[in-house]
Amino acid sequence: MPDEEMIVTPWKVSGRIDYRKLIEEFGTQPITDSLLERIKKHTGELHLQLRRRIFFSHRDLDWILDMYEAGRRFVLYTGRGPSGPVHIGHLIPWIFTKHLQDVFGAKLYFQMTDDEKFLINPEFTLEKSNRIAYENALDVIAVGFDPKKTFIIMDSERGGILYKIAVQVAKRITFSTVKAVFGLEESSNIGIIFFPAIQAVPCFIESVITGENTPCLIPAAIDQDPYWRVTRDVAPKLGYYKPAQIHCKFLPGLGKGGKMSASMPETCIFTTDSPEDVDRKVWNAFTGGRATAKEQRLHGGDPSICPIYYYYYYLFEEEDSKIKELEEACRNGDILCGECKIRLAERIKRFLTEHQKRREEAKDHIEEYLFREP
Ligand code: TYM
Repeated sequence: MPDEEMIVTPWKVSGRIDYRKLIEEFGTQPITDSLLERIKKHTGELHLQLRRRIFFSHRDLDWILDMYEAGRRFVLYTGRGPSGPVHIGHLIPWIFTKHLQDVFGAKLYFQMTDDEKFLINPEFTLEKSNRIAYENALDVIAVGFDPKKTFIIMDSERGGILYKIAVQVAKRITFSTVKAVFGLEESSNIGIIFFPAIQAVPCFIESVITGENTPCLIPAAIDQDPYWRVTRDVAPKLGYYKPAQIHCKFLPGLGKGGKMSASMPETCIFTTDSPEDVDRKVWNAFTGGRATAKEQRLHGGDPSICPIYYYYYYLFEEEDSKIKELEEACRNGDILCGECKIRLAERIKRFLTEHQKRREEAKDHIEEYLFREP
């Protein structure tokens, strides 16, 4: 059976993802060894997600470092479209963003696009997506961002400043561009046609508020890239720097192929899952193993197609030497899938227990993180 065609848009990711091809198609730059060396000068030991090339592509990251080295500060910008509970895939770019906030002391604008999710989901009310946005904000706070430097923008509540900047952006983007870049159709509602202008706004918010043109770096998975292509075209026309990006790969779902997606809840680990949920989902996961234990011992498994292996790689095994050992043990048939799954489930449960504790504590702190127009 031929591989399903690769599709990567902000609203759909499917097929076998070829990250090298995405760099070519999207016109981004790979993160090279020399760029990593340069980052290391500022961060000390490289973050796991850089060492393991989970963040693999960028635009203008070298320029951000030029500016930083010249004594200019930059802001970080990332976000969430609140369509349901947060899963551990979403945490990947957020954990890395927190690392960047820590090492560069940068302010973070975090956009909650409750408007986007209302517009895109026919059955959603605005109240529903706003309620989910507040639930999701607990997960953002639980990641550990600095309350003094983190500003969560609830889109539907911050119309004033968002709208004023968005119309400046929107005036400089044509319908044909939005149609081509986002794959929108004649039947798309006009709200979603306008929406890319709203997602562009936080790139400029610091510059608008302070009156000083301020560089902006966006860490996110590569599905969000179409927004930045459009925004980068507009930025100089408004007199602002083009926003820079650093892109990560997708944490896969627990099924065969594909990114972790809330639309398939049994192949998805939500941050609010119970220990029983984790045990069940991990136990039922697809693996790179063989049909029988005997075959596995004889021929070994294939970690390159195994979500269980990728979870260790992305999040649940800090030590590089242990990752290498695991990969070899799998390929040599020295470890069986059952054992590997049980160990992983224990780690996920431990991680979620901690996250859920911080998430609960966050309930008393939401106000401290909400962006208000100065
Ligand atoms: P959303 O809610 O689809 O995704 C939130 C963030 O998670 C990333 N992501 C993943 N990363 C790794 N593995 C996965 N399986 C995975 N699935 C999703 C997304 O790339 C994103 O970084 N429209 C946006 C909200 C938004 C935003 C932003 C995101 C507004 N402004 C600026 C990033 C940067 C959305 O719906 O994201």
